[in-house]
Amino acid sequence: MLEMKKLTKRIGKVNPLSLQSALDAGAYEQFKKALNTDRIDLFQEIEDSKLRGRGGAGFPVHIKMMAIAKETDDEKYLVCNADEGEPGNFKDRYLLEKDPHLMLEGILISAYIVRAKKGYIYIRGEYNQAIAIVSWALDELKQKGLLGENILGTEMSFDLEVRRGAGSYVVGEEYAMLESIEGKSGRTRVKPPFPTEKGLFGKPTLINNVETFANLPLIMEEGGLNFAKIGTTTSTGTKLISLSGNIINPGVYEVPFGVTLRDVIDTLGGGVGVGRHIKMVQLGGACGPIIPEMMLDMKIDFDRFEDFESKTGAGAIIVMDDRQDLFQVLSRIVEFFNHESCGRCTPCREGHEHVSILMKKFLRSEGTPEDLYSLESLARVMHQTSLCGLGQSSPVSILSSLGYFRDEYHERMNMTGGSVRG
Ligand SMILES: Cc1cc2nc3c(=O)[nH]c(=O)nc-3n(C[C@H](O)[C@H](O)[C@H](O)COP(=O)(O)O)c2cc1C
Ligand code: SF4
Repeated sequence: MLEMKKLTKRIGKVNPLSLQSALDAGAYEQFKKALNTDRIDLFQEIEDSKLRGRGGAGFPVHIKMMAIAKETDDEKYLVCNADEGEPGNFKDRYLLEKDPHLMLEGILISAYIVRAKKGYIYIRGEYNQAIAIVSWALDELKQKGLLGENILGTEMSFDLEVRRGAGSYVVGEEYAMLESIEGKSGRTRVKPPFPTEKGLFGKPTLINNVETFANLPLIMEEGGLNFAKIGTTTSTGTKLISLSGNIINPGVYEVPFGVTLRDVIDTLGGGVGVGRHIKMVQLGGACGPIIPEMMLDMKIDFDRFEDFESKTGAGAIIVMDDRQDLFQVLSRIVEFFNHESCGRCTPCREGHEHVSILMKKFLRSEGTPEDLYSLESLARVMHQTSLCGLGQSSPVSILSSLGYFRDEYHERMNMTGGSVRG
């Protein structure tokens, strides 16, 4: 079976608005067990599982946890990143709306391990339903003694609240998120120090994605070594995929790491419509690489993404058939990031303006060889010198298109002249 329902196994069977329904299906059993287990043993399970973050960068979870656990500060925080602002991604929303208690149990296990006393779930402002469901779930947990002072009569006290985003994309970046929770404008910070050392309110902070936290009850249930048997050597477990675009069956699918893009698109997604063929696929979301159809036998794996100088492992696959115009797609992407740039650093602020002008010239078939050169060098400078992940990753779609679809740029050139100013 291509689909492997682990994170999604309770979906459709539990009522997301009923803690009792989740408890009847086994929710919080692993947390209760964890409360009676040495933290070192729990940590070992996570290290054995080789779990990597599911929000994009794929950073090993145990390394962050160990860094925080080592900090002697009494005040520590936990943040769950549920901002999901990347176009093409909707898998966190699926978990939040359909089975919030899986992620919440993972948060409780993590808070216990790192000794956090306060946590925030930062949810994208547009996700009204998810915000209502998670807020309801927190109220029910408090009533049952699973949240608050002396949880279930133990020494653990942990409070958790929902924070609503205000529509910014860059606030999904962890440093910008910390600023926003502190009540400031959601702009990134210069790093180091890292959040594990000086995070929220200058205190050690664990930040992970919704799907990352949701994996913890499974790891505790199966054992880290068993968890690591699924997937590939360096990308273990399953991945939620947000499949969209020109596809017969769009939606969220859970697959083990290591399956191919073609498997997901054709077998689960039903392929593109009759008489159509795939022209290109964008991976990870708007800031990911655009690859041609001939590369679809590529395996879904964090390390494979890094070959594209991209860290967009959040799991989006956007399929585009032969009706799609590469330059229209790229222009929309550039406009999006130009709008979302916070303006703090020059390569991103100015770079998007210039790239937008150049892209529109190719869209009008008025590009020149000089424009092609300027576009490539600008995109590379933005990628290499922007302050945060927005400016570093937004040119990835352009750079990949210059590699795989260079012929289309030549076809859109006006060989009679034109200037960079457009
Ligand atoms: C511009 C930008 C936007 C991001 N948006 C999100 C997001 O919406 N959700 C998310 O989990 N991570 C997002 N990230 C990644 C976070 O900075 C961070 O790596 C993540 O929350 C860590 O959790 P993980 O290790 O569990 O993936 C974004 C990063 C950048 C640079
Ligand atoms: S890269 Fe863009 S979003 Fe990030 S700090 Fe610079 S201007 Fe702001």
